[in-house]
Amino acid sequence: MARRRQLYEGKAKILFEGPEPGTLVQYFKDDATAFNAQKKGTITGKGVLNNRISEFLMLKLHEINIPTHFIRRLNMREQLIKEVEIVPIEVVVRNIAAGSIAQRLGIPEGTRLPRSIVEYYYKNDQLGDPMVAEEHITAFGWATPPDMDDIVHLTLRINDFLSGLFLGVGITLVDFKLEFGRLYENEEMRIVLADEISPDNCRLWDTKTNEKMDKDRFRRDLGKIEEAYQEVARRLGILPEAGSRDLKGPETMQ
Ligand code: TMP
Repeated sequence: MARRRQLYEGKAKILFEGPEPGTLVQYFKDDATAFNAQKKGTITGKGVLNNRISEFLMLKLHEINIPTHFIRRLNMREQLIKEVEIVPIEVVVRNIAAGSIAQRLGIPEGTRLPRSIVEYYYKNDQLGDPMVAEEHITAFGWATPPDMDDIVHLTLRINDFLSGLFLGVGITLVDFKLEFGRLYENEEMRIVLADEISPDNCRLWDTKTNEKMDKDRFRRDLGKIEEAYQEVARRLGILPEAGSRDLKGPETMQ
């Protein structure tokens, strides 16, 4: 295959021009960052696992009619996606207090919240992704009120569905981050789920032991990071055929 034109490189993924207009190729790297890239590292096999885990979850969401940018997985580290205009907002849903809400509001980590809480952060690395309210989002035109209605509605459905799906494999969905995009098709615009859903942007705890099975193992230097990502994939029934031997995947573009 010819080398594709790179359009964008993020902290954990690269976007390339897709084979047809309106498509992109999303490549998953092993690079990991935390605290707005102040902490950097590599988690061997992470890209391969996140590609698989995100594919699995996006397909499951598609089955319940959640529109997503996902088309199909191409190989170990790449998936074909629809080109969307990313809404510059990170949508965080929390079911249990952990991370920044625990710190900011002094809630002990592990406390179940009275109800699921949705927060918004403005996607801007220079500003360190500041938390914003719907007021800022609509006033500054990052999204319109109807876009926000779609985003909240989809987010709550995704939370309900994924909470149940993970619970079924002994994992508690503590919190997670979503991104949405505008998809223009047949003169119509639709809000669709974009980016990825993986242990990089979810907090996943073993339901019995509360052991962390996500990127907090990297953020907090807890060790056994690769093993935790593999265990999530194994429980979802999607570890690559050959098992963990297979996880390095191609390092370079084909
Ligand atoms: P937080 O507790 O640090 O605000 O994180 C909430 C959730 O969002 C957690 O599951 C990790 C995820 N997240 C990202 O995916 N990207 C980010 O840049 C941050 C800060 C959090």
